Amino acid sequence: MDILLQNLQPLFLALLLIVPLLFLLGFVFRFRRRLPYPPGPKGLPIVGNMLMMDQLTHRGLAKLAKEYGGLLHLKMGNLHMMAVSSPEIARQVLQVQDNIFSNRPATIAISYLTYDRADMAFAHYGPFWRQMRKLCVMKLFSRKRAESWESVRDEVDCMVKTVAANIGKPVNVGELIFTLTMNITYRAAFGSTNQGQAEFIRILQEFSKLFGAFNIADFIPWLSWIDPQGLNTRLAEARKALDKFIDLIIDEHMQKRADNNVPDEANTDMVDDLLAFYSDEAKVNESDDLQNSIRLTRDNIKAIIMDVMFGGTETVASAIEWALTELIKSPEDMKRVQQELADVVGLERRVEEGDFEKLTFLKCTLKETLRLHPPIPLLLHETAEDAEVAGYYIPKKSRVMINAWAIGRDRNSWEEPETFRPARFLKESMPDFKGSNFEFIPFGSGRRSCPGMQLGLYALDLAVAHLLHCFTWELPDGMKPSELDMNDVFGLTAPRATRLVAIPTKRVVCQL
Ligand code: HEM
Repeated sequence: MDILLQNLQPLFLALLLIVPLLFLLGFVFRFRRRLPYPPGPKGLPIVGNMLMMDQLTHRGLAKLAKEYGGLLHLKMGNLHMMAVSSPEIARQVLQVQDNIFSNRPATIAISYLTYDRADMAFAHYGPFWRQMRKLCVMKLFSRKRAESWESVRDEVDCMVKTVAANIGKPVNVGELIFTLTMNITYRAAFGSTNQGQAEFIRILQEFSKLFGAFNIADFIPWLSWIDPQGLNTRLAEARKALDKFIDLIIDEHMQKRADNNVPDEANTDMVDDLLAFYSDEAKVNESDDLQNSIRLTRDNIKAIIMDVMFGGTETVASAIEWALTELIKSPEDMKRVQQELADVVGLERRVEEGDFEKLTFLKCTLKETLRLHPPIPLLLHETAEDAEVAGYYIPKKSRVMINAWAIGRDRNSWEEPETFRPARFLKESMPDFKGSNFEFIPFGSGRRSCPGMQLGLYALDLAVAHLLHCFTWELPDGMKPSELDMNDVFGLTAPRATRLVAIPTKRVVCQL
């Protein structure tokens, strides 16, 4: 009998462990089974909804949301995708459950081109991202970094001079503005505007194409051997080109440091600021003392610089071009903005920073532009764990696209949402874009919201104010404002499909 009991003991012990485990698994399984996925179009076996790939734009997803609601589910191969198109669901994922929804998804191309997420924008939420964010907010994008703000003022001056030299001729405003924002970010990052900039723009354009290229391996990993576009070779070449370009700049900056020739704090560029944290080996801990808690490698420095280039160039350019386009299309509003500029500033001098406070209608115009044309129309997040939202099941590692474009046009939140009407923002109770009103989130909200908002807004305010105060604008070839093409193209940002071309006339009486 004793022998029998002795033999049974391990069995009892095993049962003691296994039974609760089975209960737990059963519970988890029931939780999953009981909660359905959010509604969405039915997909095919294996590929799921991959045939709907062309609808994964802000417009395509907004259309699907009309049919399936503010939270919809798509399955792309192995990947679960959720599209969020209502302010309330956006609040759930960006505020209430932001600890689960603050990771970033990254395609194979993004991982490779960001040196395996060595940057901030694509790093997952965690200690590394937190320290990188602290570094960016406190050092790179801080208002105290006077050099960035200075480069905005200087480059806006240059742009005004270029326009003044072309009075009465058609000016490609779209290109002019892109050059402006590229010069601002390039100079803030590297300290000069002309050295090698054309080569850098070529590298950025190839990065941009590769970020947007369709790669079957992102959705069905076992099909990674299919590479008809030669993406793998292009990725390797693009990163090599960037390495060559930035390594040289880093070496020059390091040489300056070695020669004790570092510019004084007020004149450092971003590479100088980042090199202060440089080491051959990365190190991150959560101490509050930034200098001792973070060490950056070359890869980190390159990847952060690319964040600034991508985050700060097309976003601001797109907002400036849309603001001008909407105002040219709406002559009444244009008249009102220009009248306000004449009243507040007068025509004898240029706009200055101190005037902004009083330019209320201009501010409303820029808000209305960001509502209708948020430069980043889809905010891309990923879930770190299984989650429940609005009674639906969202599995771990789902890609979550928050449609800021659709939310800014939500019928339940905005009167006549498709109409450009800046005056709506004159009312005191209107939502603000700082991140706590979920019907208006052009800069996102919460942990992953835009850390460059202040710098971006400064460039937007200053550029639009100068372009409208110094000049009046007319469309070329007798084109009527109502004939303006208001289509956008979808990429990382959503700029106008065709560049704005307009003819300037001088408006101020002071020298430009
Ligand atoms: C009008 C101008 C701008 C707009 C509308 C804008 C908008 C945004 C949005 C919507 C996000 C993503 C938020 C999310 O995922 O929840 C973002 C992130 C980011 N932005 Fe901006 N941005 C602007 C200007 C800038 C500038 C000037 C910089 C840098 C100099 C910048 C750097 C970044 C970076 C690095 C991130 C990633 C943050 C992270 O993942 O933690 N942005 N921005």
